[in-house]
Amino acid sequence: MNRRTFIKVVGLGSIAFYLSGCAISTTEKISDDNTEASAQGSVSGGKRMNIVVINSSPHSEAQSTSRYLAAKFIQGARDIGHEVFVFDAANEKTNPCRGCDQCGMDGACIFDDAIETKLMPEMLKADLLVLVTPLYYFGMSAQLKIIVDRFYSRTSKLSGKKSIMIATAWNSADWTMEALQKHYETLVRYMSWQDVGQVWATGCGSRSMVERSEFGDTAYKIGAAL
Ligand SMILES: Cc1cc2nc3c(=O)[nH]c(=O)nc-3n(C[C@H](O)[C@H](O)[C@H](O)COP(=O)(O)O)c2cc1C
Repeated sequence: MNRRTFIKVVGLGSIAFYLSGCAISTTEKISDDNTEASAQGSVSGGKRMNIVVINSSPHSEAQSTSRYLAAKFIQGARDIGHEVFVFDAANEKTNPCRGCDQCGMDGACIFDDAIETKLMPEMLKADLLVLVTPLYYFGMSAQLKIIVDRFYSRTSKLSGKKSIMIATAWNSADWTMEALQKHYETLVRYMSWQDVGQVWATGCGSRSMVERSEFGDTAYKIGAAL
C-alpha cells in the first residue's frame, strides 16, 4: 500500500475524516512561471498541477453535499494556482463499459460519449484525479462507477497519478464508509496511484448537515495544501 501515515481527526459526534499523505502546509500561491515552490513538502512540489474533479451526485450544485465539499476543495486548489477541470458524471452523456475489449485496454472506446471526448483527454494529462461521490448502499454512486469502469480503456496510461477521494453519507456509524474506503484503496493499489487525501464525510446527509460540519474546511485545506 502506497499511502502514507493516516491522521484521524474527530469531528462532530462520531464523524471522522481521514487525511492521508497530504501535508497541510502554507497556502502561498504557485508562481506564474511554474517554477517556484509554493510550499515545502507539498504534494505538487510547488509545480502547477492539472487536477480533474469528477462529481457524481444527481443533486444540484445548490443541494448536493458531495458537490459542496468538491467546491471547497476546488476553491483551495485554485487559490494556490492549480488548474482544475470539473466533470459532471451525473449530467453528462455517459455509457457503461460493455466489456467488448475493442480498446484492448489501451485505446479508444467504442463509445464516442462525454467520457471519451471530454473527460478522458483531461484525465490523461492530469496529475491528480479527484473522485467525488455520495455513498449509495455503502459504495460509490452508479454515476461514478460508470466512469471508473471506463478507466479500462486506458488502464496503464492512467496509472501512476495522484488521487483523492471525497464521499458524503447520511449515516455516522464508524463503519459507514468502510466498504467504499476499501474499494478506493484497492483501486489506488491496482492503478499504482498515490493517494494524497481522503474525506469521509459521515453524518452529512443533507446540505445543512454538511455545511454545519467541519468537512468543508477539511476539503478546502486539502486543496490549498497541494
Ligand atoms: C440511492 C441512495 C442510496 C444511499 N445509500 C446510503 C448508504 O448506504 N449509507 C448512507 O449513509 N447514506 C446513504 N444515502 C444517503 C446519501 O449518501 C447522502 O444523503 C448524501 O449526503 C447525498 O449526497 P449528495 O447530496 O451529494 O448526492 C443514500 C442515498 C441514496 C439516494
